[in-house]
Amino acid sequence: MADRVTIFDTTLRDGEQSPGISLDAAEKLEIAEQLARLGVDVLEAGFPVASHGDFEAVQVIARSIEGPVICGLSRTHLGDVDRCWEAVSPAERARIHVFISTSPSHMEHMLKMDEVQVLAETRSGVSRAREHTDDVEFSPQDATRTPLDFMIEVLQAAVDSGATTLNIPDTVGYGIPWDFGALIQYVRREVKGDYITSTHCHNDLGLATANSLAGIQAGARQVEVCVNGLGERAGNAALEEVVMALRIRPDQFPGIEVGINTEELARASRLVARLTGYPVQYNKAVVGRNAFAHESGIHQHGVLADSGTYEIIDAAAVGQTGRQIVLGKHSGRHAFAETLERMGLRIQGDALNAAFQRFKELADRKVTLTDADLEAIVAEELGGKVDDGFELESLDVRGGTVGTPMAAVVLVCDGAKIEASAEGDGMIDAACKAIKSATGIDGALTDFNVSSVTEGVDALGDVIVQFDSGGIKVSGRGLSTDVVEASARAFLSAVNKVVRVRRRQDQVRQPEVTP
Ligand code: KIV
Ligand code: ZN
Repeated sequence: MADRVTIFDTTLRDGEQSPGISLDAAEKLEIAEQLARLGVDVLEAGFPVASHGDFEAVQVIARSIEGPVICGLSRTHLGDVDRCWEAVSPAERARIHVFISTSPSHMEHMLKMDEVQVLAETRSGVSRAREHTDDVEFSPQDATRTPLDFMIEVLQAAVDSGATTLNIPDTVGYGIPWDFGALIQYVRREVKGDYITSTHCHNDLGLATANSLAGIQAGARQVEVCVNGLGERAGNAALEEVVMALRIRPDQFPGIEVGINTEELARASRLVARLTGYPVQYNKAVVGRNAFAHESGIHQHGVLADSGTYEIIDAAAVGQTGRQIVLGKHSGRHAFAETLERMGLRIQGDALNAAFQRFKELADRKVTLTDADLEAIVAEELGGKVDDGFELESLDVRGGTVGTPMAAVVLVCDGAKIEASAEGDGMIDAACKAIKSATGIDGALTDFNVSSVTEGVDALGDVIVQFDSGGIKVSGRGLSTDVVEASARAFLSAVNKVVRVRRRQDQVRQPEVTP
């Protein structure tokens, strides 16, 4: 009988904790929709007590995403557990993930608790979670640096209090495959009861995927992973790597099955990269743009004769085909909507009209549009949309090696036109300054990333910015055949988000906490 490994995706929780990533509820929902299409079993949507925004995002996802179990992370405090349940309970199937640190270093320097207190916290947090739901996961944070006897005592207390999944986090990426595998085996042997063992491996030594696979070989039946290997510091095990290793080497994992629609992997990777602003390295396994590229003549010869000579993965099986769509500047709204539908991008009403409008503008300037282009256009429209926000009507720039670069913008807000111009260190800087002056929103660009959606000189430039306006940290994305225009659009979309966050400032604020 098939032995199923649960794919627990934590892109929206641990992945979102990567430095500089800040997703709003709409962006999280967009990623959650793609994760559901991908077929993840459990979707950790966030840490509800961390902020009002996180709570709201988890709740929106719990209300609207069908398919995966929706999970929220919680400390052991009873108030945290209740708040977490409030966020995830609208889901068809909901899970509470309770954690507490168990290593001497964390207990002394962070928790200021002794073993007796940690055990008591474990019991009370898990029991409280179990009052809400019978799907409760427990994690002893920094497990790989926790003395074995104490870890087993804590895990047993968690199971006795009602935990149904025991997750073993290698929080600091300290594990080595055979030693991590042995740890999983030890837990399974020593902790009595009915539970599933899970891995959560960080990549500080570049071993997160290897450690997760060692865990599965040792009997873990859940793996915690992130798309593109996002996560704290060097990241978590990459979903696409773990899944493809299981699929490509059944001889090493006899009978193991995962329920992932692998054809959706490349799209999930592109979407996450675009919304988080974390580009995918070119030679990244499975989803990198070079994962199926062959440079040397000998390799090219081999692959042309038979792709199996140098490829162990079928590019189409992971969605890496770069298909060209037949839409162009003469295509109508109907064909546009149908193509999006076929690609699984379900948008309607005003969002569809706005995306179609952008598509027409860009199709006028670009000869061919690919699936990836279309995804980027839709993502830009959905990500940047704010009711009553500022829209870019026109941008005029002057640059070059002579004279001071300058930009003039015309924005529209509530039907009124606002004009402003500014000088800058370059045309992009001038455009951003002009937008600041027109909108009255000040702040600092903390990151700026430009990439092309596809290859070639006519590729769409895709710009992602991170913007900090008085402590409100947002990202913005813009797309155009012209990189200065793409930058201005990205900056304006970030400014619009600041406007939206400020509008919500009346709402109750909660203290920021992170796991
Ligand atoms: O790395 C870690 O320990 C975590 C826990 C909260 C599971 O992310
Ligand atoms: Zn983690």
